[in-house]
Amino acid sequence: MTTRRVFSGIQPTADSFHLGNYLGAVRQWVDLQASRDAIYCVVDLHAITVPYDPEQLRRRTRVAAAQLFAAGLDPDRCILFVQSQVPEHTELNWVLGCLTGFGEANRMTQFKDKSSKGGADQASVGLFTYPVLQAADILLYQADEVPVGEDQRQHLELSRNLAQRYNHRFGPTFTVPAPYILPAVSKITDLQDPTSKMSKSSSAPAGIIDLLDEPAAIRRKINRAVTDADSVVRADDEAKPGVTNLLRIFSALSGDPIDEIAARYGDGGYGGFKKDLGELVVETFTPIRERTHQYLADPDALDAMLADGARRARVIAGETMAAVRDRCGFPAHP
Ligand code: TRP
Repeated sequence: MTTRRVFSGIQPTADSFHLGNYLGAVRQWVDLQASRDAIYCVVDLHAITVPYDPEQLRRRTRVAAAQLFAAGLDPDRCILFVQSQVPEHTELNWVLGCLTGFGEANRMTQFKDKSSKGGADQASVGLFTYPVLQAADILLYQADEVPVGEDQRQHLELSRNLAQRYNHRFGPTFTVPAPYILPAVSKITDLQDPTSKMSKSSSAPAGIIDLLDEPAAIRRKINRAVTDADSVVRADDEAKPGVTNLLRIFSALSGDPIDEIAARYGDGGYGGFKKDLGELVVETFTPIRERTHQYLADPDALDAMLADGARRARVIAGETMAAVRDRCGFPAHP
């Protein structure tokens, strides 16, 4: 049996990935390199579906790539590249867009959520067709599996439908990708508002731990994390969402089951528990932060790594696109 191929993407929309991104995506990407043929992408084209600043995007794309390498993505064991460096993504996007029903795109709940903030009239057509570009990302590489969070399930369903529709109309061309929904570890919530997701767009800085935070900031944020009025360390999503979130983080980083951690701290108050959790996060993030800064200190070397990733990605994407052009009735590229 051949090794299954995974493809996933992450947007460069913040100055750093945060703990939720790390546990929900980045760490799983690193693990999947061992068992899969892994291709990962910093999706800068998706990042321009909302108003943005070009210099900031340029910087964030580099920081995102540096953090992914620093966290353990290894160019000898995976391909990591930047989406805009492989023009086949936008080309396939057009073809797939012409196969997507307007009503079908209009049913995407993430578009409704995102566009309802500024009013649908303010939203761009790019935001509307975002899931079509995502389908192009996935189908270009003939991915078998797509590791994503639960919130991407509907987009994955569209990718599957488009692959099947294309294959049916034009002949077998694309692998139909399966979602690989990442474990609920990704349910990391805001430290200040533990009933909402830790999110770069909605959380205040005190509610988020960034992968690039200095140790003092990490310790402070965990010490000040919202808990509750009693002092028992135990998991209870309803009554104790703050403590439960901290337990989840502790368990994800240590590998110890939540019950065992809860039993260890019991009713001894939150101080020691938070202190140990702070150290655990610092221990995990410090080497990644240091390696990230090393990558960023040598932008030419980082750009060369990304250029190499893009070249390798393009070999695969180019093969798929040549078949697509032919089946669509376009002349071959000269
Ligand atoms: N929409 C994804 C997210 O927000 C990011 C993404 C873009 C992606 N293209 C992809 C994920 C392709 C998986 C595969 O998380």
